[in-house]
Amino acid sequence: MTETPPVIQIRDLHKNFGMLEVLKGVDITARRGDVVSLIGSSGSGKSTILRCANLLEDSQKGDILFKGEPVKWKGTGDHRRPADAKQVLRIRTNLSMVFQQFNLWSHMTILQNVMEAPTHVLGLDRTDVEAAARAHLDKVGIADKCDNYPAQLSGGQQQRAAIARALCMEPEALLFDEPTSALDPELEQEVVRVIKDLAAEGRTMVIVTHDMKLAHDVSDHVVFLHQGKIEEEGAPADLFGAPKSERLRGFLSHTQAA
Ligand SMILES: Nc1ncnc2c1ncn2[C@@H]1O[C@H](COP(=O)(O)OP(=O)(O)OP(=O)(O)O)[C@@H](O)[C@H]1O
Ligand SMILES: [Mg+2]
Repeated sequence: MTETPPVIQIRDLHKNFGMLEVLKGVDITARRGDVVSLIGSSGSGKSTILRCANLLEDSQKGDILFKGEPVKWKGTGDHRRPADAKQVLRIRTNLSMVFQQFNLWSHMTILQNVMEAPTHVLGLDRTDVEAAARAHLDKVGIADKCDNYPAQLSGGQQQRAAIARALCMEPEALLFDEPTSALDPELEQEVVRVIKDLAAEGRTMVIVTHDMKLAHDVSDHVVFLHQGKIEEEGAPADLFGAPKSERLRGFLSHTQAA
C-alpha cells in the first residue's frame, strides 16, 4: 500500500529578501490531521515560512509539495517564480491563512466576509455557500453576528469570523499566523478554544504562535526556528519538557517568564 503524501511538505527551503537570508534550508512536513507549531523569536522566519508555503512569497531554492504535487517553477534563484497560475490558485485556496490582524473587509457584514471567497474565487453556488457560512459561524460561536460589520465585534469575535472564513473555503489545511497575539487574554481564550476544537476534529494545521501553552496543548510536532534554521524540533512533551539546545532553553525561559 502506498502511503498518502503529506498535505504540506517543504524541503530545504531557502528565501532571501535582497541581501538578507531569511530561510536557510528549512524542512517542514504536515501530514493529514497533523498540527505543527512554529515557534521562535521575532525575525526567525516563522511568518515567511507560512507565506512561502502558500505561495504568497517567492523562494529561491528548495521544494514545496502540496499533497505530493511539487510546485512547478520557472527560472532559478532570485528569478524563480511559480510557473503555473492554476496550480498556485489551487494551492493557495487549499491552504487557508488566518492572520494576526484578522483582515476582514470592513465594508462587508460578517456573513458577506465569510461568503466572499467561496462565491467569487471558487465560484460556488451562493445558496450552498450561505448555508455553509452560517454553519461555520455557528460552530465558532458567533452565529448571532452574521449581519454585523467587523467594527461592531470584539477582537476575539473578529478572529473567530476570520477562522470561519478560512473554513468556508473547505481547505486541506489551515495556516495560522499568531492568531491570538492581537487579543486581550480573555478574548484570546475564545480563539484558543476554537483552535483546540479544530485540532480535535483532525484538521491539518500549521500554527505560528508565541503562546507556548497553545503550542504545547494542540501540537503533534513543534518546530523551534532560530535565524532561519530549525534549531530543534519534536513532540511537544520533549521540546518543552526536555529542550536539548541551549538556545531553545533560553527562548523558553524568556517566554515563560513573560
Ligand atoms: N517583505 C520583506 N522585505 C524585507 N525583509 C523582510 C520582509 N518580510 C520579512 N522580512 C525580514 O525577514 C526576517 C523574517 O521575518 P518573519 O516575518 O518571517 O519573522 P517572524 O519569525 O514571523 O517574526 P515575528 O515573530 O516578529 O512575527 C526578518 O528579519 C524580517 O525583517
Ligand atoms: Mg511573524
